[in-house]
Amino acid sequence: MAEKPRVAMLGLGGMGQPMATNLVRAGLPTAVWNRRPGPARKLAERGAEVADSPADAVRRADVVITMVTNADAVRSIAIDQGMLAAMAEGAIWAQMSTIGVSETERIAGLVREQRPDVVLLDAPVAGSRGPAEQRRLVVLASGPEQVRDRIAPVFDALAQRTVWGGPAGTGSRLKLVNNMLLAFLAEGIAEAMALGHSLGLDRTAVLGALQGSPLVSHWAAEKLERIGRDEYAAQYPLSLGLKDVNLALYEVDIDRFPVANSLAAQWQRAVEHGLGEDDVTVLARALQH
Ligand SMILES: NC(=O)c1ccc[n+]([C@@H]2O[C@H](COP(=O)([O-])OP(=O)(O)OC[C@H]3O[C@@H](n4cnc5c(N)ncnc54)[C@H](OP(=O)(O)O)[C@@H]3O)[C@@H](O)[C@H]2O)c1
Repeated sequence: MAEKPRVAMLGLGGMGQPMATNLVRAGLPTAVWNRRPGPARKLAERGAEVADSPADAVRRADVVITMVTNADAVRSIAIDQGMLAAMAEGAIWAQMSTIGVSETERIAGLVREQRPDVVLLDAPVAGSRGPAEQRRLVVLASGPEQVRDRIAPVFDALAQRTVWGGPAGTGSRLKLVNNMLLAFLAEGIAEAMALGHSLGLDRTAVLGALQGSPLVSHWAAEKLERIGRDEYAAQYPLSLGLKDVNLALYEVDIDRFPVANSLAAQWQRAVEHGLGEDDVTVLARALQH
């Protein structure tokens, strides 16, 4: 592979758009594709090559990245729209969407059957849209060790750190652990704020009392600040948070995770009330009504 790998980025949503921008900024030749054409046009202005289809995007790529909503979208792109079949001999596919463990293993099986020369990396990311813009993501990478040097310039362009696990599937497992903790933190913030409201406390006083507390992580502090400004535009949409809790619960005996199960039911109701596209912190507002 040349010193600068050619990259194809498929999926230019809240995460894919800033990630593709960082690839271009790092000087990596980047082809992009998105289902709706609008987001790709923005990337063209920044120097990316825009492809008309997933297959066209990946033909000459050394590294293909998928960053879309869920496993259905990944399979639609990779199989139905011909991405996997069109990939160059021996290319790397870094699957970075959060699709859980079973679906990752299903996709690894498809790669083994249909394109055994392609190297699949299961590499979801920790960090939301802000960190993606600021190159502060953490890549939870897993898959064959021999491609680490080849993929390094790509992950370095996207993230502050890459954590390598074992075989493909490990990254997705780590991602579910990360997001379960995140879900509990989001719910903890929402319920603490709702309790303050129910106890008749002024919101500014509650936020002031929590400021600098050892209980409040950097992430939680940023979320509390946004809640203080009534700012709920999505960084990590509630619908994706619910998807990720459900992906985790799918893998385990639900009876051993009753609190996560109840959290998922509550988030499901909030999504049904139309809050799915708002940030996960919107629960803080929802619980006060
Ligand atoms: N947001 C976060 O904080 C965060 C953090 C870490 C990981 N993630 C994970 O990263 C992935 C992407 O998240 P995001 O925030 O970028 O989501 P998003 O803003 O909702 O964007 C979703 C992307 O997936 C595409 N897509 C959806 N269904 C598709 C289909 N059937 N065929 C082709 N493309 C399809 C969308 O295309 P259109 O534009 O055409 O709709 C869009 O490009 C998800 O798996 C998410 O769980 C998100």
